[in-house]
Amino acid sequence: MTHDLDGLRAIVTGGASGIGLATANLLAGRGARVAVLDLDPGSVDRPLLGFHADVGDNGSVAAAVSRAADELGGLDILVNNAGIGATGTVEDNPDEQWHRVLDVNVLGIVRTTRAALPHLRRSSHAAIVNTCSIAATAGLPQRALYSASKGAVLSLTLAMAADHVHEGIRVNCVNPGTVDTPWVAHLLDSAADPAAERTALNARQPHGRLVSADEAAAAIAYLASPAAGSTTGTALAVDGGMAGLRLRPPGQ
Ligand code: NAI
Repeated sequence: MTHDLDGLRAIVTGGASGIGLATANLLAGRGARVAVLDLDPGSVDRPLLGFHADVGDNGSVAAAVSRAADELGGLDILVNNAGIGATGTVEDNPDEQWHRVLDVNVLGIVRTTRAALPHLRRSSHAAIVNTCSIAATAGLPQRALYSASKGAVLSLTLAMAADHVHEGIRVNCVNPGTVDTPWVAHLLDSAADPAAERTALNARQPHGRLVSADEAAAAIAYLASPAAGSTTGTALAVDGGMAGLRLRPPGQ
């Protein structure tokens, strides 16, 4: 593994599981010092530094970012990855759930970034990467609330990129398809027929399988790295072709 991130300092929210954990491990493996901010950081092992934080609570996030930046000696990379899901059409989710999911998935990024910006401004390689989703760019059934939250993340990424480009802070997002993480394992476990559900999810992505957490992490690490120094305001799809391809049916 290259050590292209030697000397850089990173925070990954939601870094105790799934895409966030894979990202934190990859950044650390490439030389960065990495702090994980999570509701449940108990399982986070060295060299990762675990901090308890709820991105839904401004005081909690501000304190955790400050402690993490102190411990790391500054901050160069922020990965806004913490997020929660919701299923259903516009008829299914009560207002309280709409407020909760938007609060975590959208305002969580706002709160964490607000706390991190004073530290990022002191970096000469500052980068923010938001974990967005295929749900921001494709209409998926039964995902009205979740999709609205990720559509907001995509627009927020572009606006943040414009606001901070002259400060030398790059802002991008990744749009994963369905990724094989504990979150998706839980969704599959709760399906009436988990095997049929997995087959359907595999088939929905043109490359015929779920995305791995390591593949999503690799895209995040690229956007976070100095190698992407001329890339800002982009959304990088990691979805096996789901967003961009229009294939003919097999055999035709
Ligand atoms: P996961 O459930 O495996 O991990 C999410 C982590 O975020 C957990 O460690 C959890 O404790 C933490 N978290 C949740 N709410 C939090 C809060 N309020 N404050 C701090 N930490 C909190 O989930 P996964 O699959 O790794 O998802 C990570 C991100 O990727 C989310 O933003 C999700 O929307 C996005 N995503 C996931 C896809 C998938 O198919 N798994 C596809 C596209 C995007």
